[in-house]
Amino acid sequence: MTHPPDAPRMAVLISGRGSNMVSLLRAAAQPGFPGRFVLALSNRPEAAGLAHAQEAGLAAEAVDHRVYADRAAFDAALDARLRAHAIDLVVLAGFMRVLTPGFVEAWSGRMLNIHPSLLPLFRGTHTHAQALAAGVRLHGCTVHFVVPELDAGPIVAQAAVPVRPDDDAETLAARVLAEEHRLYPAALALVASGRARLEDGRVVFAPEAGCAAGALHSLPV
Ligand code: GRF
Repeated sequence: MTHPPDAPRMAVLISGRGSNMVSLLRAAAQPGFPGRFVLALSNRPEAAGLAHAQEAGLAAEAVDHRVYADRAAFDAALDARLRAHAIDLVVLAGFMRVLTPGFVEAWSGRMLNIHPSLLPLFRGTHTHAQALAAGVRLHGCTVHFVVPELDAGPIVAQAAVPVRPDDDAETLAARVLAEEHRLYPAALALVASGRARLEDGRVVFAPEAGCAAGALHSLPV
């Protein structure tokens, strides 16, 4: 793998199947990607994604949230693993734990998440069912910096998909997931290269990132 010499060291955090992780690892394995994945962490030891990460040559570790007394203790353990691997950038990809404000603040501007809705609509879980219930005609996904408030951080990039009249939560989820796999690597490249960064609670784009950021906003066909 050839990466820029100063490419940030990245960790991907998962809880389950890890399809976003797989698309991120694939993209980051391309020559010149501006960041290097060195660690996959899961709060569930049985997460299918851990095996994929190991095959891809990353350190793959589990920090089982069930053995910690509270959220703060779990987050301290997570933080210790990230620091042990000298991680610069934390990439949440289907990581299903709420993180404590202390942990989030410690990684402020250096932690991204993908959420399967067009934020600020439909925070939390069951976003596709929420979208169907609301009757929106556009739905999608959002990559954002993580802040203490859940699913509320400054937005790096979004992709939209149409909601079709015959959709159920499953068909809609599949359409959004395909966009997630496209959007997250592109948004991560912007952040890892420093072309998108968090400043005073807003995402600031480098002038030359303008087109790249714009191109991420896909319209339904
Ligand atoms: C994705 O839809 C992600 O946006 C959400 O959880 C799902 C995880 O899927 N937070 P995967 O583990 O990446 O396949």
